[in-house]
Amino acid sequence: MDPTSKQKNQAKRRAEELMRRIGVEGVKLTEYEMNIASHLVDPQTIKVSWRDIAGLDEIINELQDTVILPFQKRHLLPDSKLFQPPKGVLLFGPPGCGKTMIAKATAKASGCKFINLQASTLTDMWYGESQKLTAAVFSLAVKIQPCIIFIDEIESFLRNRSSLDHEATAMMKAQFMSLWDGLDTSPTTQVMVMGATNRPQDLDPAILRRMPATFHVGLPNTRQRQDILQLILAGENLSNAINLEEIAEKTEGYSGSDLRELCRDAAMYRVRDYVRKEHMRQIAQQLQDYQEEERDSWLHFILDGNVPVTLPMTVLVCTNPFTTERFENSHQ
Ligand SMILES: Nc1ncnc2c1ncn2[C@@H]1O[C@H](COP(=O)(O)OP(=O)(O)OP(=O)(O)O)[C@@H](O)[C@H]1O
Ligand SMILES: [Mg+2]
Repeated sequence: MDPTSKQKNQAKRRAEELMRRIGVEGVKLTEYEMNIASHLVDPQTIKVSWRDIAGLDEIINELQDTVILPFQKRHLLPDSKLFQPPKGVLLFGPPGCGKTMIAKATAKASGCKFINLQASTLTDMWYGESQKLTAAVFSLAVKIQPCIIFIDEIESFLRNRSSLDHEATAMMKAQFMSLWDGLDTSPTTQVMVMGATNRPQDLDPAILRRMPATFHVGLPNTRQRQDILQLILAGENLSNAINLEEIAEKTEGYSGSDLRELCRDAAMYRVRDYVRKEHMRQIAQQLQDYQEEERDSWLHFILDGNVPVTLPMTVLVCTNPFTTERFENSHQ
């Protein structure tokens, strides 16, 4: 009995559903390809588009020319061996600057099938399965091409090979590279590996060589920060006192994700302040109601002639100054 059969059946159902949705029909898949196909992303369901990325127009234009154009305009030069998307694209740079967003927007804009590959998908605990799954990534991509195989945080998966690597891991990396090279055998194959990392120095040099198109997505400069702030705050109710240029100047070293957090914090503070003020107002109101109730009850007490002799004068004076005279009279 296969202990993973439930998992495999689920993956198969998910894969079939996804394949149907993205319009891949009549393609026979092996069990391993089915497993990988469950990581397919329907480009239509990707929410990120170029419009959601601010300040990175240069990178976007270049991606459009080098990556998307060859996918979309293949029919213009169908026999050309050179008019092809690069076999590998690497997005690198510090965390939170938009690499994953760019990859998603590229998939959406290109209309390609998009396999979102995680290292954990391939590292099956059963010996030999990892190699079969790795082979399935490429065979599936070729069957459903044009296709982008996206590996986020690629350094965790294809890091520098070392003698300490487990044998299965080392074999998987070597196999991955040779399958990648295999994409070149047919000039018409439209499959591309796209990776994103914030630690390019940890990547195996052999992997870097296979990614000729590299894009540095660095920390935004003042102008870019202003663009990002503008995009993040679009549609928010902003005070006229807010000067985005000034905030952009003061946020040197912030990434796009830091700026988003900054704006989120500001929105939270605004709501928090409002809630606190409202709370304080309620407490003040309750206190006032309570004091009025207290005063009324003392008033009744006094008017009924039940004032205890030991009652400190100040309490009466504070509670209701108008009753003091009656109180004093009642003791005479
Ligand atoms: N240029 C940008 N325009 C608009 N929003 C941005 C930009 N850069 C970053 N952000 C915001 O930061 C978040 C994180 O971006 P993203 O996940 O693409 O970063 P990353 O570069 O992949 O980071 P990591 O290396 O940590 O994976 C986004 O969801 C978005 O809200
Ligand atoms: Mg990322």
